[in-house]
Amino acid sequence: MKNIKIMSVFGTRPEAIKMAPLVKELARWEDITSICCLTGQHREMLDSVMEIFSLQADFDLNIMEKRQTLSTITTKTLLGMEQVMEQCKPDMILVHGDTSTTFAGALAAFYHQVPVGHVEAGLRTYDKYSPFPEEMNRTLVGDIADLHFSPTVANAENLRKEGIRGEIFITGNTAIDAMAYTVKGDRPFETALLNQLDFAHRRVIALTCHRRENYGKPMEDILTAVAKLVETHEDVEVVYPVHLSPVVRECAQRCLGNRPRIHLIDPVDVEEMHNLLARCYFVMTDSGGLQEEAPALGKPVLVLRRETERPEAIAAGTAKLAGVEYDAVLAAGNRLLDDPAAYQAMAKAVNPYGDGQASARIAQAIRWHFGLTAERPADFCPR
Ligand code: UD1
Ligand code: UDP
Repeated sequence: MKNIKIMSVFGTRPEAIKMAPLVKELARWEDITSICCLTGQHREMLDSVMEIFSLQADFDLNIMEKRQTLSTITTKTLLGMEQVMEQCKPDMILVHGDTSTTFAGALAAFYHQVPVGHVEAGLRTYDKYSPFPEEMNRTLVGDIADLHFSPTVANAENLRKEGIRGEIFITGNTAIDAMAYTVKGDRPFETALLNQLDFAHRRVIALTCHRRENYGKPMEDILTAVAKLVETHEDVEVVYPVHLSPVVRECAQRCLGNRPRIHLIDPVDVEEMHNLLARCYFVMTDSGGLQEEAPALGKPVLVLRRETERPEAIAAGTAKLAGVEYDAVLAAGNRLLDDPAAYQAMAKAVNPYGDGQASARIAQAIRWHFGLTAERPADFCPR
């Protein structure tokens, strides 16, 4: 029987969370040899995901440095991939999303003339510097890729308008597949602080903020607005699992440190995070992944960015673009806390991003591409 070697390359927390269900799905097929290559762009935050999903790396470039630059991530990945490609000779490389690992992984595949499948393809803001460097990473990977796995119709439309080469599949987002592994209604938390929180009587805001384009004034404005929200609402508590980036940690400590109802904690594992999302009152975030996960759990999201490449939840009414300025973030938070009708209008479970079958569609698309099945997967349509 024909057997294909598919190598998934990833390196950061969100890529790992969204690739994990796909790596597991690929491993189910007898005609696929699934290989997992980590760049190690993240270390602790990546290892935690590998452990939760019981995944093992076949290769690990281990590139992370403290305060690494975009250039070091890209060059170390490109050089590291040389040997891996020589040794492994994959039939296709899969990359995910828009990080520097994604870009360098796709470029390494191109240099070795190996076809590329792009998972989470076609998200765009059409603003070159926002999000930075992600918008350009995903655009460049779009040009390199042969198979494009777009989560939504709108993502696929972006690629069609751009006249992209290759096959486009509408698959849903594998983030929703991942939640099937992690969300467990009555699971106790492992993090002591989360177990001590009184979710029944306190309104708990889950906060994350880490994006490079928010470094400096925007992040200070956002976090100062959060401090004001807590100061003016006695029943509100904030849980902020702070990203391990030293830039983010310094800003979080300076703007939000030593306040009794603001809990700055280390990053939590993805099971903890998804269950925190399921139990919180609402979410404030500049994260991409959280914009997809929170709506699925019926939690309103205030998006702490100037724009978003994920307009679907905004159209569905569960997410709002709060911006990055102090007054705007404060006003959006006050509205959700003080206007029950506004809160109720946003607190509805919608799932424009997936039905939990994205990995199955992607595996089928790959098998179809290599002639292992005659059936092209049907497109994902949100209900
Ligand atoms: C990266 C991605 C971003 C993604 C984010 C998810 C790029 C350019 N950016 O940004 O798209 O949204 O990951 O979190 O690819 N660190 C640790 N341990 C870890 C992880 C990070 O110590 O496990 C620290 C290191 O000092 C590292 C710094 O965080 O240098 C920044 O990591 P980096 O991957 O460069 O940028 P992120 O902001 O995480
Ligand atoms: N997440 C996590 N622990 C945390 C914070 C986030 O597991 O402490 C998860 C979150 O649920 C989502 C993913 O990490 O699945 C998002 O990653 P991140 O915000 O780092 O990156 P982005 O999605 O913005 O690229």
